[in-house]
Amino acid sequence: MDDLTKILQVTTTHDQLTGAVNTPIQLSSTFAQTDFDNLGEFDYARSGNPTRLAAENAVAVLEHATHGYLFSSGMVAISSVLMTFSAGDHIVVTMHVYGGTFRVLTDVLSRFGITHTFVDCGELADVANAILPNTKAINIETPSNPTLSVTDIAGIVAIAKAHDLLTIANNTFMSPALQKPLDLGVDIVVHSATKFLAGHSDILAGAAVTKQDDLAGQIYFIQNAVGATLGVLDSWLLLRGMKTLGVRMTQLATWLAEQPQVNAVHYPVLPTYPDYQVQLTQAENGGAVLSFDVGSIENARQLVKHLTIPIYSVSLGGVESIISYPPKMSHAELSTAEQLASGITPGLLRYSVGLESITDIIADLANAFSYLGE
Ligand SMILES: Cc1ncc(COP(=O)(O)O)c(C=O)c1O
Repeated sequence: MDDLTKILQVTTTHDQLTGAVNTPIQLSSTFAQTDFDNLGEFDYARSGNPTRLAAENAVAVLEHATHGYLFSSGMVAISSVLMTFSAGDHIVVTMHVYGGTFRVLTDVLSRFGITHTFVDCGELADVANAILPNTKAINIETPSNPTLSVTDIAGIVAIAKAHDLLTIANNTFMSPALQKPLDLGVDIVVHSATKFLAGHSDILAGAAVTKQDDLAGQIYFIQNAVGATLGVLDSWLLLRGMKTLGVRMTQLATWLAEQPQVNAVHYPVLPTYPDYQVQLTQAENGGAVLSFDVGSIENARQLVKHLTIPIYSVSLGGVESIISYPPKMSHAELSTAEQLASGITPGLLRYSVGLESITDIIADLANAFSYLGE
């Protein structure tokens, strides 16, 4: 079945009792028990709620997983997966990692004895060289935020398997509509479901999925123990938001690459892009987010000032277009030197293309570019 059909099917679970075509919102923190000795499937909502379960199953099915867990933000999903490791464990992490993950690794988990090494996952030899005797996992993000750098998922999985390590992949930018890392041998996929999965800039949500029972048990243990679960109403909004996932992925990169004021366009399926072939072997296309460099912070400021369609804000993956300035937003955690090392230049803007007409989006950009010098 095509994903476009599957998305609608998995997000619509008919209520058996009434025939309601939408998933019932079960606003209940506790569930009455009928058997004194054996608790039913649901007892307390931190451990499980039917509405959240429906959304968890939907994300899992789309990612070709068997188990899905939803959290109150992407950062909690990522942190919960990382919390399955213990003091003394080491993780190899892509240097192109989201700023929040960078912060959790460097300022939180390091205090609990979970260490990491950042590497350029584009260089498979560097990844292999970073593995230590106590390494337990390789954590990748592809394409990455905000430079859209692509990691060869199968290549990383091969290294991980050779060293008996887990592979964790952040699939936020592609979503399961375009890329299914579990099919390529990844063990755990995480998401900021706030972005493409929810798709309407309304909720914060995170997801972790796997098809391995033991890993699922460990993630569920942390989800239940720590308790940062996705709320019932947000679970329902996630289910609703996911219905349009298939039609929210469009493209703008080719036009941008032709503009004289643009120094570089980071979009993984531009034929000039270094990772073009890798991207097309592991994903359907390049997705709906790109970043581009306009030379300086002053040019970036001018462009944003004159754009009328995208909202200038933090985030991406909504039905409306969003433009953001990573050096001061998603990656403000990194020092200037760390930003430059990751390709986050002072003139870098990230554009998340929404459902507006692409003709209007381009006209709006063309008008804003006319205020910049060449
Ligand atoms: C790739 C990626 N991972 C994780 C996160 C964090 O997710 P959240 O903001 O839902 O906590 C983000 C947020 O921008 C992201 O872009």
